[in-house]
Amino acid sequence: LLGGVQIARDDVVRDDPTNNVPDNIFSKLGMQLHRRNQHPLGILKNAIYEYFDNNYSNKFDKFDDLSPLVSVKQNFDDVLVPADHVSRSYNDTYYVDSQTVLRCHTSAHQAELLSMGYTHFLVTGDVYRRDSIDSTHFPVFHQMEGFRVFCPDDWEASGLDATSYAATDLKKCLEGLTRHLFGAVEMRWIDTYFPFTNPSFELEIYFQGKWLEVLGCGVTEQEILRRSGKQNNVAWAFGLGLERLAMVLFDIPDIRLFWSIDDRFTSQFAKGQLGVKFKPYSKYPPCFKDMSFWINESFTENNLCEIVRAVAGDLVEEVRLIDSFTNKKGMTSHCYRIQYRSMERSLTDEEVNELQLNVREEVQSKLKVVLR
Ligand code: PHE
Repeated sequence: LLGGVQIARDDVVRDDPTNNVPDNIFSKLGMQLHRRNQHPLGILKNAIYEYFDNNYSNKFDKFDDLSPLVSVKQNFDDVLVPADHVSRSYNDTYYVDSQTVLRCHTSAHQAELLSMGYTHFLVTGDVYRRDSIDSTHFPVFHQMEGFRVFCPDDWEASGLDATSYAATDLKKCLEGLTRHLFGAVEMRWIDTYFPFTNPSFELEIYFQGKWLEVLGCGVTEQEILRRSGKQNNVAWAFGLGLERLAMVLFDIPDIRLFWSIDDRFTSQFAKGQLGVKFKPYSKYPPCFKDMSFWINESFTENNLCEIVRAVAGDLVEEVRLIDSFTNKKGMTSHCYRIQYRSMERSLTDEEVNELQLNVREEVQSKLKVVLR
């Protein structure tokens, strides 16, 4: 049950040229990992809720079961994503039909909730993106959106203009949240661009010798407020990736583990226990298979990864370009190394060979590349 609506396979996977949702993605719909109090993603969501409840005396309304099936208007137009922005392409986003997508960010719910009169809200949900395959990328992940609207009274007394006031408040709020989750940690703000905020920022923390991006945020574009009748207000918004933070907080080395039903994983986490370090259990051995082919003009790595995932599902751990060259005739050859591994058992040679054979056939017929 998603936001009160049951989603059936026919609603999402269709034999239609405007549909690019594979069965392995459909099977993830409705899992709602972020609503499980014993799951790292649920534990993290609850810890963020706790910060907002404590610091804003329960003023933020919380939504965590809005349907991930949204219109193109909600996902893109309502948050001012330009008509030619890459995120709208079939290469980056899952389309159910030409007007409906699996949301690629929780920002898809900003405009709707604003129009309904909400002024302080948090939206948590599963989001979907076509992407490459490695230990930190999975086509389904989870985000939390935060949104706060201010009235003229709020900034007039401060001596700051509305935008500076909101930006200052936003940074203070998110620095506090980061300390609540990570304790004392070095942070820095980076200027960036999002279509729906201006100015826009990214927050990075210094973690294990590296700067790690933890969220995107900014002062909401006035046009978004104006469209919901709030032209005299100013607002801020942020969006954070729950897996990204949870991998750091719980020491989880592979993003696929969030989907594991192996109790050697699930039994390690308990309600309310943020940051208990995951103890890796012995991994089964990986198996590598290389494939080389001449690419054509329409080749993209995302399309290749979709095919590998459609054949091998969660048994594929990484798809990596290991060699590329262009010959005298101008033809380009790519060699990809596919890494197979199960989180649950040892794969046999036979089944990996079978998977690889299917991948080769599918890649040849669907991508129209020439295998070498
Ligand atoms: N929606 C943005 C993303 O997915 C994150 C974001 C949310 C940025 C809200 C600014 C404000 O990358």
